[in-house]
Amino acid sequence: MTLPLPYRIGYGEDAHRLAPQRPLVLGGVTVPSERGAVAHSDGDAVLHALADALLSGLALGDIGQYFPDTAAEWKDLDSRLILQKALELVQERGYAPLNAALVVTLDQPKLGPLRAEIARTVAQLLNLPASEVGVSFKTSEGLAPDHVQTRVTVLLGRTNG
Ligand code: C5P
Ligand code: MG
Repeated sequence: MTLPLPYRIGYGEDAHRLAPQRPLVLGGVTVPSERGAVAHSDGDAVLHALADALLSGLALGDIGQYFPDTAAEWKDLDSRLILQKALELVQERGYAPLNAALVVTLDQPKLGPLRAEIARTVAQLLNLPASEVGVSFKTSEGLAPDHVQTRVTVLLGRTNG
């Protein structure tokens, strides 16, 4: 019998269209912006990609399996609950996130001033110090001015040694 790997890598992505009169929430932080994510839930593309990254690291599928975006009960859902569910599934299997790297591609607004707050908020949700959450921002160079795109990697470690 092969032993379970001590470490596993997870990767997730998400994208949402931007429209006026919608909140822009990234990593649990509300970003002052004229436009926000069009989404069934609160549209937090960082937490959606992060939840998918956690699930993918253990080959547990994706968040759509646990939170179908057609279900009325999940309308305007706080994405922190989606992340919490993914974290529980990972923990039940004897793993925990050790660090995470987040990339947000968005043309406007500039997110640099919110980098520390996003790192701190995401780290808190993962029970990690902020120093274990890397946060990078990119523009699309005008290729996708009406979208926010996110990409996330996580390292999972076995909790029982
Ligand atoms: O996409 P580009 O490489 O031109 O972005 C330059 C820098 O602008 C990034 O490295 C990042 O520090 C910053 N940026 C930001 N907020 C964004 C996009 C980029 O702070 N929405
Ligand atoms: Mg999403």
